Amino acid sequence: MDKNIIKHDYIVSKKDRKKLNKQNSFLIWFTGLSGSGKSTIANALEHKLHQSGYKTYALDGDNIRKGINNDLNFSPNDRTENIRRIAEIANLMIDAGLIVLAAFVSPYKKDRESIVNIVGIDNFVEIFINTSIEECEKRDVKGLYKKARAGEIKDFTGVNAPYEAPINPDVELVTDNMTVVEAVEKIYKVIQLKLKNE
Ligand code: ADX
Repeated sequence: MDKNIIKHDYIVSKKDRKKLNKQNSFLIWFTGLSGSGKSTIANALEHKLHQSGYKTYALDGDNIRKGINNDLNFSPNDRTENIRRIAEIANLMIDAGLIVLAAFVSPYKKDRESIVNIVGIDNFVEIFINTSIEECEKRDVKGLYKKARAGEIKDFTGVNAPYEAPINPDVELVTDNMTVVEAVEKIYKVIQLKLKNE
C-alpha cells in the first residue's frame, strides 16, 4: 500500500452492521470446472438463505467478467487478477455485513489461498464442486467444451489449461449423481453455525 494513503476509520463498524442485520457475514467460495454446477448450486443456496431471512449477494464469473473485469482474459496472470479483485469486492461486502456467495472456476491453488489472505480464514468457506471433466463435457451447457476441443478457445480449463483441485475444502460435492437440493442441504449443514451472529 502507498505510504501516503492512510486508512480512515468510520464510526459505524462491521460489528455494528452485523448486529443490525442480526447475522454473521462471510464468504462462501465455489470452485470447480466450467459447467460443474457452481452457479446453479450457489443460486439455489442463496435462494434458501434469502428465504430464511439472510442478507446475501452472489458474485459469478460470467457476470463479473462482463462488467468490472471485462478487461481480463483467461491467461494465468489475468485469472489471478480476476480472483484478486473478486476477493477484494467480497471483502467489502463482508464488511457491509452480507453473506457473499462467489462462483468462479479459480483453478489455481495459490489464487484461492490469496482469497483467504484478503478476507481472513474465519470468513472463508471453500466449496469444491467436484464434477468430472467427462460429465461437464457431456453437459456442455454453453457449448464451450466443443469449441475448446475444436481449438477455438485457448487456455480452456480442463482441456488446455490446468485445474488444481483443492486438497482440503470445507465441502466437496461429487455432483455427477447428486441433485441440486442434496448439494444445498450438505452445504447448509456445514455453514449452519457460521450463520449465527458472533
Ligand atoms: S477464472 O478461472 O478466472 O476463475 P471465471 O470463473 O471468472 O474463471 O470464468 C469462467 C467462465 O468463463 C466459464 O464458466 C466459462 O463460461 C467462461 N470461459 C470462457 N473462456 C474460458 C476459458 N478459457 N477457461 C475457463 N472458462 C472460460
